Parts: sequence; structure tokens; C-alpha cells
Amino acid sequence: MRILKQLWHWLDDITGISKSLGPILTHPVPRARKTRWLYVFGSATLAAFLVQVVTGIALSSAYVTSSGQAYHSLQFINSTTIGRIVRGIHYFGASAMIILIGLHTIRVYLMGSYKYPRQMNWLTGAGLLMFTLLMAFTGQLLRWDQIGFWTAVVAAEQAGRVPLIGNWLGHFILAGNTAGGATLSRFFSAHVFFIPALIFTFLSVHLYLVLFNGISEPPKAGRPVDPRTYRRWYHSLLESEGIPFWPYAAWRDLFFGTIVVLAIFTLAVVAGPPELGKPPDPTIVSASPRPDWYFMWYFALLSLIPKWTENWVILLGPLFFGLFLILVPILGGRGERSPLRRPWSILIIASVIVIIAHYWAEGIRAPWSPRLESPPLPASVVGVTSGPVADGARVFYEKGCEYCHTVSGYGGIRGPNLSDAGDRLTPAQMATRIFSGAENMPSYRGELTEEQLSSLLAFLSSRHLLQVPKPPVLKTPGK
Ligand code: HEC
Repeated sequence: MRILKQLWHWLDDITGISKSLGPILTHPVPRARKTRWLYVFGSATLAAFLVQVVTGIALSSAYVTSSGQAYHSLQFINSTTIGRIVRGIHYFGASAMIILIGLHTIRVYLMGSYKYPRQMNWLTGAGLLMFTLLMAFTGQLLRWDQIGFWTAVVAAEQAGRVPLIGNWLGHFILAGNTAGGATLSRFFSAHVFFIPALIFTFLSVHLYLVLFNGISEPPKAGRPVDPRTYRRWYHSLLESEGIPFWPYAAWRDLFFGTIVVLAIFTLAVVAGPPELGKPPDPTIVSASPRPDWYFMWYFALLSLIPKWTENWVILLGPLFFGLFLILVPILGGRGERSPLRRPWSILIIASVIVIIAHYWAEGIRAPWSPRLESPPLPASVVGVTSGPVADGARVFYEKGCEYCHTVSGYGGIRGPNLSDAGDRLTPAQMATRIFSGAENMPSYRGELTEEQLSSLLAFLSSRHLLQVPKPPVLKTPGK
């Protein structure tokens, strides 16, 4: 014990820890009586971020940044218990970060905490929000399965719509003309070096500003912020009823942060990481697999709006969102902070939540989306276990036809149901469609061998309505 104490004195003497950190820990903060639990989301986001740093470093030590091997290195990580848990933590940590930074932003916005003198707190926070979303986006791509691969294609496709510099931007994102090894390296470097560096920088400024300006006091209707008097007033508030941050306010941050981390760990162990999709398959170029949950609503929005509005939404949506984030503290830097005196702020948050929830629910149903998780057709559906029809059923599964087409209840619903293809279409008609594709179906010209095509046609021609068990017809009494 004495040795530890001596060691601490020595360390403190040569580093000045207690002199520099002591005042920070015990600086006075406003006593927020009713809203004290609303102040914990920022520190909890930080806790989730630290979890991401640690698990991210661990994952990167086993991940291979090569388009040929990335997927296999993830399979390897997934095959070990510790790997599965670390991947799970990284996945649920990302989810937690997005939820918490969202809650933190909403809290700060509704309470008007971005007003004088905390405008730069808000602006650096807005940067952190953007970077967090970019991390989620680039991270999803690193899985380099179907979803990851198409993330890159979709990103480049959307960037390509930007006027004038669109082509250049798309090229920049893909690091070439097509998604491949160079794309993966580019996203890897963004995900592990570039964006984290920005996050650390912005985070330091953000935290410094939180200390410099002090934590905002709970808003009160009828007590507007006036830049000329605010600081003096705030200091007198702290003097009269401030409490030392440590331990009186900090324990809540610590408590909530611990719960968040424990929840992330528990989910990682119980639910495990997201399953890897199939390896990327460039032949289903028009397929749009469903992204991770946090982008699901945006994906559904883009899939459901009329085609002609797509360009506007893709270009103006992010632009307006960015402008909104920048203008909020600049145009609204003073005046009433209480949401009761800013009813439109409640309206804005409520409509954003309703819109996101609506499209999110649509995204989960996603009738337009290929079902990448469809299992191979069982023998009871195919009818035979060998011969051209059985071979054709295998091709139907392996070439991804089943992602979009249902056969006897198996498969996606993006394309027409093919359970009765043999009744409706001649082999020549089928072959034409398979070769030429359609707006929502990729062309398979050059993707199938002669043999695969003929067995595929044999299989499809063997699909007749009678094979499908019909639901029993209920007799209506009295008719
Ligand atoms: C990305 C989704 C998708 C994939 C993958 C896909 N299709 Fe299609 N398919 C469609 C859509 C959508 C249509 C309707 C096109 C139209 O008529 O405009 C269609 C139409 C068809 C038709 C004509 C159906 C009819 O009722 O007229 C056939 C046959 C067909 N596909 C077979 C295949 C085969 C075989 C494969 C695999 C080699 C395949 N499709 C892969 C989406 C897909």
C-alpha cells in the first residue's frame, strides 16, 4: 500500500495529473433537477466509440484487405468464438453509437443547448454525427459480402448524380471504374485511418468546448439567452447552485455508460454478429440487397419514391440536412431555449421520427428487394433429385434467380412468380428474358454455359400450376 502511494506521488509529481485533471473533474456544473438523466447520451456515445476503437483494432489484426480474401478472413474470424464475439461487439457497438449520438443530438436540439456560447459545440458535434454515419457506411462495405459490395456500387451510383463533378466523385469513391480490390482498400483506409483521425480531432475540440463553455443549464421558458449577459449569469448560477461534476453528476454518466457497454457485450454474446451474406457476385448487378438496419429507412425511401424524384431526394436530402445542421446555431444562436417556446423544434423532430419509422417499417418488409437469404429449393419442390430438372433447380439457386423469383413459396418477390412458368412461357421466351434481362432483372448473357441454360429451361418448363398445393376452397354456407 505504501509503495503504491509513493508511486502515485512520484507519478503525480512528474506529470501534474492531479493539478491538471483535478479541477476538470470537480468543476461545477448546473444542478439539473428534473432533466439530469437527459445529459448522459453524449458520454455514452463516447463510451461506445471507445469500444469501437478497441474491437476495431482487434478486427483489423485478422482482416485481409484484398477483394479476394476479405470475405474469407471474415469467415475465419466468424469461425472462432472470440472472433464472433469481437465482431458482435463491433456491430452492436456501431448500432449503439448511432442510437446514442441520435438521442444526444435530439436532446441538444430540443433543449436549445446549441445557443450562445455553445455554437461551436454544436458544429463540432454535427461533424461527429456525419463522421459516425460515414463510419457505419464504410464499415458495412468492409464485410465484402453481397451487401458490402453493393454498398460501394450504390454509393458510387448516387455520387454519380451530382452535377458536374459526379463522374469524378463516383470514380473517386470506387478508386476506379468498377468496384474491386482498390475500392476495398480505399474504404478500409477511410474506415480505419482517415475518418477516425477526424473523429479524434473533432472529439478533442468538442470535449474541450464542453469544459470551456460549461454544461448548459436546463432551459426555462421565459429565460432567453442574451449573449451580452449570459456568461455572467451562468457563472452566478454555478456559484449559487452548482455542484462538482465529480462525483455528483459524473456518476450518472458512469452508470449509464456501463449499462450501455454491458448491453453491447450481452447482445454480442447472445445474438452474435450479423451473418455474412454470400460472397459478392457481380452478375446480379441490378439487385439492391437490404443494408444494415440504420440505413434501412433511407434505402426504403429511395425504393418507394417516384423515379423522377429520385435525383432530387439523393442530391437535396443530404444537402438540406447538412445546411440545417450548420444553420441551426448560426441563425438561432440566441433567444428562448425552452422547447415550449420553440414548438416548431418539437414539430421538426416529431416529423423526422415519424418519417424514419415509416420507411424503416417499409424497408423491413421490402417487397422490391431481392431475398439473398433464400435457401436452395428442397427436393419436394423440385420433384426429382437428378437429371436436367434437378440441375436446373441448382442453377436457379446458384445464379441468384431465386433472390428475385418465387418458386412454390421459396425465394424473393421482386420479379414475377415462376411457380407456373411452364404453363405461361415457352422455353424460347424464357431464354430471351434470361439473355436480355429487363429493367429490374440483370442480363445473364455470357454468364451461363450452354448446359446450365438448357437445364435451367428444363427446370422452368417443369413448373406447372398443379404442382403448387392450392389452399383449400372454403364453401360458403347457403350458396
Ligand atoms: C434482380 C432480380 C432478378 C434476378 C436476379 C432474376 N430475375 Fe428474372 N425477372 C426479374 C424481373 C423484375 C422480371 C420482370 C421483368 C419484366 O417483365 O419487366 C423478371 C422476369 C423473368 C422472366 C419472365 C417472367 C414472366 O412471367 O414473364 C423469367 C423467365 C425470368 N425472369 C427468369 C430468371 C432466371 C432464370 C433468372 C436467373 C438466371 C432470373 N430471372 C434472375 C428479376 C430478376
